[in-house]
Amino acid sequence: MEKTWWKETVFYEIYMPSYKDSNGDGFSDFKGLTSKLDYIENLGIKGVWLTPFLKSPKVDNGYDVSDYYAIDPTYGTMDDFKTFLKQAHKRKVKVIMDLVVNHTSTESKWFQEAKKSKDNPYRDYYIWKDNPNNWESFFGGSAWEFDSLTNQYYYHKFDVKMADLNWGNPKVVEEIQGVLRFWLDLGVDGFRLDVINFLTTEGITSDNPTDEKGEQEHLYDINQKGVKEAMKIIRETVNEFDNRFIVGEIGSDKIEVLKQYQGTELLDVVFNFNFGSIPEFSAQRIFKELQSMESNMSNYPTLFFGSHDMPRLINRLAKNNPERAESLAALTLTAKGIPFIYYGEEIGMENIEADSMEEIKDIQGRTHYNLAIKKGEYIEEALRIGNEHNRDKSRSPMQWDNTQFAGFSEVLPWIKVHENYTHLNVLSSEKQENSLLNNYKKLITLRNSEPVFQYGKYTELAFSDNSISFTRIFNGKKIKCYFNFSENSLEIKLKENEKVLLGALTIKPNKYLMVKSVKN
Ligand code: NOJ
Repeated sequence: MEKTWWKETVFYEIYMPSYKDSNGDGFSDFKGLTSKLDYIENLGIKGVWLTPFLKSPKVDNGYDVSDYYAIDPTYGTMDDFKTFLKQAHKRKVKVIMDLVVNHTSTESKWFQEAKKSKDNPYRDYYIWKDNPNNWESFFGGSAWEFDSLTNQYYYHKFDVKMADLNWGNPKVVEEIQGVLRFWLDLGVDGFRLDVINFLTTEGITSDNPTDEKGEQEHLYDINQKGVKEAMKIIRETVNEFDNRFIVGEIGSDKIEVLKQYQGTELLDVVFNFNFGSIPEFSAQRIFKELQSMESNMSNYPTLFFGSHDMPRLINRLAKNNPERAESLAALTLTAKGIPFIYYGEEIGMENIEADSMEEIKDIQGRTHYNLAIKKGEYIEEALRIGNEHNRDKSRSPMQWDNTQFAGFSEVLPWIKVHENYTHLNVLSSEKQENSLLNNYKKLITLRNSEPVFQYGKYTELAFSDNSISFTRIFNGKKIKCYFNFSENSLEIKLKENEKVLLGALTIKPNKYLMVKSVKN
């Protein structure tokens, strides 16, 4: 088993606009983030994933980059970023950046040039066609936008202001290699590659088929043949620098698709949304996904139950059930894989809901709302549809304390603060001995100090009466973990050479236990 820092790391995802505002504009920024590094270090976090912070009109909060070499002024200056990086490294916290190379903002210089004329040198950086095919945008509606200046359509898998790059063009590949080198050279420890299996490497092929429900199946527009080749080039470029890490966002619910992108020549790990974004709690489903990752993936899986693209863990999986939330944290921190915690999860932050269209900031929510209105739906129904697709739910400002705006900002934040901040916040959680936050700290500390949790194989992975259990072994050391999701208590008897690491031998419903084998 090769030792590498990322196998020993608990990652923490920070949604850039929402963590800590230092300059009173209602958005988080690097100075704010730097001021919270002690908190992050104290939590035991060894790696942060920052959602996009490069210059962007922020139609999709930075997933629409207009300049790959500049920091978005909302988040500060290049010096602010460098200070953040230096301070993070001083605390032994690695920093991985979210890199979006499937598409750019239509405000990027490349696109602005490309759209000028058919023979502009940048034209082929993007994908243009005289006639669109049936491919749909992932945000809803057609993936094609007509440009009257040159009488052609350009392709956008996401918003119309996010044009897809043409990965079949070697110049684009070279440009992106330059971008990677620039940030690696500055000292970032790796990347989270956005929708990386969506790259258009083969151009526009056949129409996509439609399933029985009338929904488009993304058969030809994603996982194109050249995607692996593109990933290999990215990997090689990243490998020009020591010790860097790549996690890929792979949009697919098929483990066979996910696993093919993992490997030494490809991505270190990939997100598996079958596990991470389960819509409601099911111990059996969680177990099945653990089992499927174990039998299918040759390398480490990732373990997470939250991100900026899905409703909060607590609402989906543990509503009014802080004990279950803690057990799910314990599971992600002790099972085999790389854990990712979404900011605020550690205090049990909850979803926010939009009461009006003005409160839906998310481009996906807005697009669905607008399409519904166009179809002639009533406002109430359009709002319901918009809300269903609205990803803002889990993007509200971090709740630091009970002062106005939750200590996130001194002014009204870009998105509303959850009203429960008066009692649910970091400061009050730190003071309560048995709070979710303090238990997260305990669990992360345990994972950080136990090589078994970082490197151990499973010798057993079992499910019985709604309880999940597994044993992990490394260098002759064994730890057995039980998660009781049944309605009854579970009695565990210790063997002679066993001792309790965490939890109690009578495992109450929604509680857990960890037992270590010790040598006599
Ligand atoms: C995936 C990101 O996680 C999501 O937030 C974004 O909207 C799309 N990629 C488009 O970049």
